[in-house]
Amino acid sequence: MSFTHAILVTGGAGFIGSHVIRRLVNTYPNYKIVNFDLLTYAGNLDNLTDIQDQANYSFEKGDINDMVLVKSILHKYKINGIIHLAAESHVDRSIEDPLSFVRTNVLGTASLLEAFRSYRKETGIDGKFYHVSTDEVYGELGDTGFFTETTPYSPRSPYSASKASSDHFVRAYHETYGMPIVLSNCSNNYGPNQFPEKLIPLMINNIRNGKSLPVYGEGANIRDWLYVEDHAAAIDLIYHEGRDGETYNIGGDTELKNIDLVRTLCKVMDEKTGRLLGSAEELIRFVKDRAGHDHRYAIDFSKIKNELGWTPATDFKSGLAKTVDWYLCNDAWVAHVTDGSYLQYYEKQYGDKA
Ligand code: NAD
Ligand code: TYD
Repeated sequence: MSFTHAILVTGGAGFIGSHVIRRLVNTYPNYKIVNFDLLTYAGNLDNLTDIQDQANYSFEKGDINDMVLVKSILHKYKINGIIHLAAESHVDRSIEDPLSFVRTNVLGTASLLEAFRSYRKETGIDGKFYHVSTDEVYGELGDTGFFTETTPYSPRSPYSASKASSDHFVRAYHETYGMPIVLSNCSNNYGPNQFPEKLIPLMINNIRNGKSLPVYGEGANIRDWLYVEDHAAAIDLIYHEGRDGETYNIGGDTELKNIDLVRTLCKVMDEKTGRLLGSAEELIRFVKDRAGHDHRYAIDFSKIKNELGWTPATDFKSGLAKTVDWYLCNDAWVAHVTDGSYLQYYEKQYGDKA
């Protein structure tokens, strides 16, 4: 079968990447969707079993730092565009091991850009590079205000510093080499398939196992939450209709204090598992705060709304219910990802806190 368009999605075996791949594979049967992923601890092909046999999907294992391999894959599939999600993505891990974030997020993105630049020159294919980034590059907000696309960068963690750096490289390739690019900076995602080191799946998993719920500091930090399928929809739209060289902020319009979110989740878990109301909440423990913990993130997403007509479709209540249902129905997935290395990570991160 011949395809009209081919997209390389990096990090497609991860949380957001797998939802992006599923959406593209199912929406565009005429496109070839190639998933390029190193399968680190965060990458899991079990996320894609429902689409893995479709003719317009292929998986290639590899490192974005491996320019020779990346170039051979770009040629093999005659790739027209890249959607780049591969990254080290967890703030707490970046505090423990910042250099691995520099390697993957900074050097990896620069290597991928360089491989794509060379491939475009060799083939004359005028493909675009879409870089998926985070609102954390803007730093933290006080109790008021929102991040817009023109908010100055002010990253405060090794994770956000590495993502900020990668954003700059992408823009530099546009300015210097004329590469067609587009970027988006999104707030906190939640939903099925998220690795249980991030707040919501970690709390779900701990409640199920009767373990304490480690809330950092006083739980007063605020995040804006977006259901992952809404992010995938925005990425699809921006890839196709985003203006060249532009950045789009993506947000969920759902600002929550961590402690309020955790309490809401406790109630949902009590209801869905038939436990006594209030029993999950008893597991909450306030633990030592994260170093350099950003106080608040909030997104002004009027640009993508006005230009491209995107708004979040899933309200937090139904998104959270869908998320909890997914984790309760997917014990094997959770067991698979919470193996030995997860337990080691958990012990190191929380052993002396929770
Ligand atoms: P994730 O950690 O779940 O997945 C990352 C994927 O990248 C994994 O499949 C991993 O195997 C792969 N990967 C890591 N290093 C690689 C390498 N060197 N070469 C190839 N593949 C590699 O991350 P996620 O939460 O799905 O985030 C995806 C992207 O979206 C990231 O760029 C992240 O910065 C961004 N983002 C995430 C959020 C969020 O809330 N999770 C919000 C905004 C932006
Ligand atoms: P996280 O899911 O790690 O995302 P990010 O740091 O990128 O926002 O954390 C979300 C919020 O929850 C953040 O303010 C830190 C807090 N948090 C806890 O209180 N306890 C935890 O065990 C974790 C993982 C996070």
